[in-house]
Amino acid sequence: MKKLMAANWKMYKTGSEAVATINEMAAILNGSAPEGREVVVFAPFTALEAASSAIKAINGASTGAENLYPAIEGAFTGEISPVMIKACGASWVLTGHSERRHILGESDEFVGQKTAFALQNGLRVMLCIGETLEERESGLLRNVLERQLKLGLKDVPAETPADALAIAYEPVWAIGTGKTATNDDIVETHAICRELMREIMGDKADETALLYGGSVKPANAGAILGLDNVDGVLVGGASLKADSFTQIINA
Ligand code: PGA
Repeated sequence: MKKLMAANWKMYKTGSEAVATINEMAAILNGSAPEGREVVVFAPFTALEAASSAIKAINGASTGAENLYPAIEGAFTGEISPVMIKACGASWVLTGHSERRHILGESDEFVGQKTAFALQNGLRVMLCIGETLEERESGLLRNVLERQLKLGLKDVPAETPADALAIAYEPVWAIGTGKTATNDDIVETHAICRELMREIMGDKADETALLYGGSVKPANAGAILGLDNVDGVLVGGASLKADSFTQIINA
């Protein structure tokens, strides 16, 4: 399985800023993702079309949206459908990011509806899961991951190819805080995630990418990518600059 190197640009970058960053990445990477690596850039809706055109300059790279609404079209003011995302030239979407769960109040059930709908409509989905510090300290780590995975994957069509889905484990306390989980934490938690994925999706679990996210940077990316059950990284802050994100891609 190729390692997935994903950027989450959150609410940063206009269209022209996105294009400038991608052009810089393309120059540093000589027009191609390194051997054995796949690159995905999750960009804001308003930059998605421009980013999707620009990313064609990098072989093995694609774009994704950071959110979707589970309907083809309709009276859903301010929302975006998978059809619109695909029309921008993007092939991926994020679901369940902790900022959407905790700031926008998305439930596990709603995350599950979005995940299934996006897959049914031909997008690849990166479902994000992860516990808060309070949950971890109260011994609820496994419970939280189990609930988020079970409900998040509840209506995923059985015929979904393994490479259409990826899971990103991101401990909430490590996102944007500069606090990375220790390598031991990551190995232990990824083993739990993989075991839960096997319970839910059987053999397909071993072909489904399981990424780590939370304060990944050039200095720690190589070590994290070498850990058991780590099939890629989802990078926020350190993905905003071409120079640091390409160092991570090459780590
Ligand atoms: P961070 O964000 O790398 O800035 O911690 C990761 C994410 O939220 O996906």
